[in-house]
Order: sequence, then structure tokens, then C-alpha cells
Amino acid sequence: MEDAQSPVRRSHGTITLQDRMRIHRQKPVTIWLTGLSGAGKSTIAFELERQLVAQGHACYVLDGDNVRHGLGSDLGFDQRDRHENIRRVAHVAQLMNDAGLIVVAALISPMHADRAMARDIIGAGSFVETYLSASVATCAGRDPKGLYAKALAGEIPAFTGISAPYETPLDPELAIDTATLTPSESVARIFGYLREHFVALAA
Ligand code: ADX
Repeated sequence: MEDAQSPVRRSHGTITLQDRMRIHRQKPVTIWLTGLSGAGKSTIAFELERQLVAQGHACYVLDGDNVRHGLGSDLGFDQRDRHENIRRVAHVAQLMNDAGLIVVAALISPMHADRAMARDIIGAGSFVETYLSASVATCAGRDPKGLYAKALAGEIPAFTGISAPYETPLDPELAIDTATLTPSESVARIFGYLREHFVALAA
């Protein structure tokens, strides 16, 4: 955001987004995966990345658990820290898009307001909100990291879906029911959307 009073000014190079799009032969976009822990975000994100790269695309996954080891290592899980986590990741995604990359962000991002902020930071025209709609019961049944068992035993405070809210997206670009679709089928849905709207393969 430009502030006329701020001593910090933006500098601009001569390379344009069009230049970068030509080099990468793609239109950059952020696919923002939201859903409960265990809904399949990481699995789908990395499979989507694998398929995009196999087709010659420049793509990178920003995974919630992974970025919390560095970029967000000072943050916890109260509303304020989740907001800050999402704000940071959204800015990184925006920079990566600006560099010409396709980004897959996989964060619980449980609140409407924080997802709206991410959309705003990244730009509505390059933001694909993708809701992975597995229920608490489904995710707790999978419990791949054993976190639901701990949360239900009261060992993890503010655990999304158990003791902290998840606000179901009202108007996402895509909604995918990972309770009934396999990861490959889910990725195929996202691919279909990208082919239609974003990925312009020149070669
Ligand atoms: S977000 O709310 O800020 O978007 P994020 O996606 O980065 O969450 O991190 C979620 C991951 O942190 C989960 O996949 C889970 O492994 C772990 N985690 C640890 N504590 C919690 C908690 N209280 N609520 C949800 N996830 C948690």
C-alpha cells in the first residue's frame, strides 16, 4: 500500500509481468486450498504441483505446516496469529505470482475475513478459492497426524473444527468434496478449472 507520508518508496525494474508470462508460458495464479486439518489440502496441493510441473509449468506449494517452520515460526493458533500467518503467506503468494509462478497455498484459513484479505492481497483476478469440504467427522476419522484425538482429549487448544471455528466458504471458485472424491479426482477438477481460466500453454 502506498502511503504519501511514508519514507519507504517502491522501486521498479523494467521487466513486466508480460515478460515473465512469456518466459514461463503461463498466467500466474494462486490456488488457495482451504479446509479442515485432514481435509486433504497438502496431498492435493503436492499432487497438483507434481502434475503442473510435469506439464512444464513453474509452480510452488506454500503449505501451512511447512511455512510455520520458518516464515510463521513465531505464530500460534489464536485468531490474531492465524490472521498474521495468512497475511504473510498471501503476500509471499502475491510476490511469487508477480515473479510469474503458479502458487498452490494450502492453509486451513478458517475465517471468511482472512480469506477475503488473502484475495485482496493476491488480487481477485488471480485467486482461486478452493474449498475442500470434508466434514469434522470425516477428518477426525482420518486423523492422519493424530491431532483430532489429542484435540478431543483437550490436549490441543483452539483446534479448528473442535474448539475453534471453521467458517464454510460461501462463494468459492471451486468446492471439492474430498469425502467422496479421490485425491486424483480432486486434482482433475482443479486442473479443469485452471485449463479453462488460467493456464495458457504456448508450447
Ligand atoms: S491457519 O489456521 O493459520 O490457516 P495452518 O494451515 O497454517 O492454519 O496450520 C494448520 C496446521 O497446523 C494443521 O494442519 C495442524 O497440523 C497444525 N495445528 C497445530 N495446532 C493446531 C490448531 N490448534 N488448529 C489447527 N491446526 C493446528
